[in-house]
Amino acid sequence: MTKEAEYAIEVESLTKRYGNDLLAVNGISFNVRKGEVFALLGPNGAGKTTTVEIIETIRRPTSGKVHLLGMDVTKEKRNIVPCIGVLPQGFSSFDRITVRETMLYYSRLFGGRNDDIDKLIALVNLEDKAKEQYATLSGGLKQRLGIAIALVNDPKVVFLDEPTTGLDPRARREVWDVLLGLKKEGKTVFLTTHYMEEAELLADTVAIILSGKIIAMGSPAELIESNADYLVLTLQSVDEKAFAVVGGLGFEPEQNNDKALQVRVEHMDDIRKILNAMNDANASFVSMDVRKPNLEQVFLKLTGEALHESAGGEKGAQ
Ligand SMILES: Nc1ncnc2c1ncn2[C@@H]1O[C@H](COP(=O)(O)OP(=O)(O)OP(=O)(O)O)[C@@H](O)[C@H]1O
Ligand SMILES: [Mg+2]
Repeated sequence: MTKEAEYAIEVESLTKRYGNDLLAVNGISFNVRKGEVFALLGPNGAGKTTTVEIIETIRRPTSGKVHLLGMDVTKEKRNIVPCIGVLPQGFSSFDRITVRETMLYYSRLFGGRNDDIDKLIALVNLEDKAKEQYATLSGGLKQRLGIAIALVNDPKVVFLDEPTTGLDPRARREVWDVLLGLKKEGKTVFLTTHYMEEAELLADTVAIILSGKIIAMGSPAELIESNADYLVLTLQSVDEKAFAVVGGLGFEPEQNNDKALQVRVEHMDDIRKILNAMNDANASFVSMDVRKPNLEQVFLKLTGEALHESAGGEKGAQ
């Protein structure tokens, strides 16, 4: 008997080339622990789906090693497929078939039982919709059905490629609740997303991918901690002259919503300087807060730097 794999997923020096010019995945390595939620976070065209679909055995790598539960994805597809569940990007199902019938259909493909189906329908909170046809469901409900389908074979590892793209904030939260439930059950979840908020909330580990390369990896807290070399000061309801006052000190204030001024500073001392200058100029504001950057700001910083550094390098993804 082979030794049980330590990691759910092991990826080593993976590359994927499309044609001669496009290096969509450029030598990435990472491990996913059993039972963790791992988020691959990156902009359009970064290489997320390519990576996920190689691990799912759907696409073949150009080079590198990829193992799922210790099995080589290029050699053991038959043994891997029963262990995984997949929600593909842009998932869609049969319009005229009800939620329950759809679940029955997929379950029978995998030899599942009826009561499992009802459990899964309950898990994604679709009990009230069980008799509705797929075409009548909202985007969020469709995605929840897609997640239930991904679970029909009781997989050990679940892949969800952009499960909340295109959903409104409430529908997105309802999908998050389902994913938090999977996490509680101890499933290994591999998620791709553009949404930092989603990664910050759900993921134990986040890997940021850009132009086929992983430019940062760690828990959301680690990524923030190691990149939080600045503070963000926000002043709510400032009057117009505040921008000139703060700009006059050499900072670069931005207007982030109606009347809020947001500015990056390095030290608490800078904040004191700004507040004194505001006071001297009689520039008013209603409230203020000082925060470390969130994952979104870290992402923008890291991707900005990486794009800058890679300018003129080998052609990666778009
Ligand atoms: N089958 C293919 N043939 C040729 N090029 C491809 C193919 N699939 C993807 N690409 C290209 O590879 C790059 C990475 O694509 P991929 O779909 O992996 O990115 P992604 O991060 O999933 O993007 P998105 O967020 O838009 O889904 C892109 O430039 C894309 O156009
Ligand atoms: Mg994709």
